[in-house]
Amino acid sequence: MSDVRVLADPEAVSRAAADDFVALARETVGRCGSFSVALSGGSTPRRLYQLLAEAPRRAEVDWSRVDFFWGDERAVPPDHPDSNYGAAQAALLGPVGAPAERVHRINGELADPEQAAREYEAELARVLGAAPGGPPPALGLILLGMGADGHTASLFPYSQALAERRRWALSVYVARLGATRITLTPPVLNRGREIRLLVTGRDKAGALHEALEGPREPERLPVQLIAPEAGRVVWLVDRAAASKLSGA
Ligand code: 6PG
Repeated sequence: MSDVRVLADPEAVSRAAADDFVALARETVGRCGSFSVALSGGSTPRRLYQLLAEAPRRAEVDWSRVDFFWGDERAVPPDHPDSNYGAAQAALLGPVGAPAERVHRINGELADPEQAAREYEAELARVLGAAPGGPPPALGLILLGMGADGHTASLFPYSQALAERRRWALSVYVARLGATRITLTPPVLNRGREIRLLVTGRDKAGALHEALEGPREPERLPVQLIAPEAGRVVWLVDRAAASKLSGA
């Protein structure tokens, strides 16, 4: 089930995402004692992370009960400017005092990115109680963005990772970027209980229109692979990104 919420601008998208995060974290911690979230990378979620680390939202979540994962990571050290972990650590994890044992980053610094993917799979299994080789782990919330080419996480158009149905994380070489990434695979992304796709900016309008209203072509538009059987998907988009949607 997909729901599209069109908000005025990137700030409104960030605030809506922050409010959803807080509500889901509070409800899940209250019900289960902990909450697992996969953070997304790129520039869009940076303001969201700042809002979560500021009053009033900061005090509304018991951050000691939140397990942080990532939807993808660049094959770089954690202190590299391109590190998705590094960006989240600076904007959110550090300011809220996330305990180290609750931060499950992808070891992008490893010389062998496939080893980083396998270690990440083991950490997902350990923390979320999933058996390796069994059904994928179910994260409480998965935050995702979308590129202007329709990629999400590090699932890029025509990548072999799009067809992966067994592994939970893979390393992928992205020729267009000349860079290696480690990414969650569609089976894990589609086990998310709640998914929030944050998309802002006019440069995303074409891909958003095609992804939501065009024919199903997930090889060309990997974000179309996000279709959980049971989880809820909410697109949080601003007017600029929604400008080519019917009824915009
Ligand atoms: C990454 C992200 C990636 C991102 C999109 C959108 O590691 O870069 O996981 O999937 O969400 O590329 O990026 P922007 O938010 O910067 O537009």
